[in-house]
Amino acid sequence: MANFGINGFGRIGRNVLRAMTQKQVERIRAINDLTDTKTLAHLLKWDSVHGKFDGEIGHDEENIIVRGHKIKIFKERDPGNLPWKTLDVDVVLESTGFFTSRDKAELHISKGGARRVLISAPAKNPDATICIGINDDVYDPAKHTIVSSEVIPELKGKLNGGAFRVPTPDGSVTDFSAVLEKDATVEAINAAFNEAAADKRYKGVLEYSDEPLVSHDIIGNPHSCIFDSKLTIKLGNRFAKIVGWYDNEWGYSNRCVELLEMLGK
Ligand SMILES: NC(=O)c1ccc[n+]([C@@H]2O[C@H](COP(=O)([O-])OP(=O)(O)OC[C@H]3O[C@@H](n4cnc5c(N)ncnc54)[C@H](O)[C@@H]3O)[C@@H](O)[C@H]2O)c1
Repeated sequence: MANFGINGFGRIGRNVLRAMTQKQVERIRAINDLTDTKTLAHLLKWDSVHGKFDGEIGHDEENIIVRGHKIKIFKERDPGNLPWKTLDVDVVLESTGFFTSRDKAELHISKGGARRVLISAPAKNPDATICIGINDDVYDPAKHTIVSSEVIPELKGKLNGGAFRVPTPDGSVTDFSAVLEKDATVEAINAAFNEAAADKRYKGVLEYSDEPLVSHDIIGNPHSCIFDSKLTIKLGNRFAKIVGWYDNEWGYSNRCVELLEMLGK
């Protein structure tokens, strides 16, 4: 059975290990990230999202120890320096987010001596992009050594989407899709909202943002809509989706105060 190596032990690297059975974990020969064994063991054990690791986690100078199984830790910035062959590693999970192009991911094979690489992201020039349950039948072991596990290229322009991470104690989003009467670009849609936000009619109500926001960032913002230009998407020339955030408690309460004043006049 194949042995594994992991390059990049962040959210995906650690969650991939967590998703494995102990028998699979025992086939992980080495992990590479940029920090020491103590920190990596701690991050694997304690996860604010998924909870405490189910099983004992330890470490020594060179390894993290997962339910008694020692996994050698490297601290190499250059993937070409990882001795996968010596460690008997067959398949490398490339989950740093940095080595997603073919020429970079290939270093695990050409220099490190692994047999295959799975890139945990959309990749540039992989041998194949494979989604389990969708097109996994295209896998050809004779041809595919560098594989991406993300969006299937054939769906480009046909399907688009986004993800919101919940729960959040406060903070809401309006996700609005429309078929437009006229063709429009993402830039034109964003420019229209930017212009509207500058109009005195929408002062204090509509805010335009070019920042990569998450729900927590808008808590305490008194506007009724914080238009998020980064999330505007289009499919074809006329189908558009826009997103506006709002603090459902604070924004609403601010409008209530204004209305109370108006009604009191
Ligand atoms: N987080 C998700 O929900 C998710 C889902 C699917 C795919 N992905 C993709 O997976 C990849 C990793 O995402 P993530 O969320 O795990 O990121 P992350 O930042 O949590 O993890 C990346 C890890 O790689 C390490 N790293 C950075 N440079 C390195 C180097 N030169 N050598 C070795 N290690 C290095 C970092 O220290 C970090 O621990 C990205 O391409 C991302 O798009 C993420």
